Amino acid sequence: MKVAIGSDHAGFDMRKVVSNYLASAGIQIEDFGTFSPDSVDYPDYAEKVGVAVHEGRADRGVLVCGTGIGVCIAANKINGIRAAAPWSPETARLSRQHNDSNVLCLSGRHLEKGLVLELLKIWLETPFEGGRHQRRIDKIASLEQMD
Ligand code: RB5
Repeated sequence: MKVAIGSDHAGFDMRKVVSNYLASAGIQIEDFGTFSPDSVDYPDYAEKVGVAVHEGRADRGVLVCGTGIGVCIAANKINGIRAAAPWSPETARLSRQHNDSNVLCLSGRHLEKGLVLELLKIWLETPFEGGRHQRRIDKIASLEQMD
């Protein structure tokens, strides 16, 4: 699996936590920055990571901003992206089992490091269940066709 990662300044430190975990798990990483704590705009990083997943250059993406919400809103504008911002182990698991989420959005300011690592691990390891959930994913994809 190859995972694209990115963050704004508010997710800068937590992205390092994420990339250290991915590296220790032997997962290939493409890191889109930001590479300094200077203020930047989170949609730019959501775009870089989301497009990498959209184009198949990465299997999944992980984004971090202050809340995890801004990057999630932005990434979900890209066709084929199902970005989720879980806040508990169960919502991380369900975002994979039911929603086949392909981008994980995390908060750098409002989640503890230990929980972030737990969410990340569960999200990486949990498969999509398919079945009735595939029908719902197909309906989400049809929303991308709206003008
Ligand atoms: C940056 O201050 C902050 O607004 C951003 O990281 C994010 O939380 C937006 O949703």
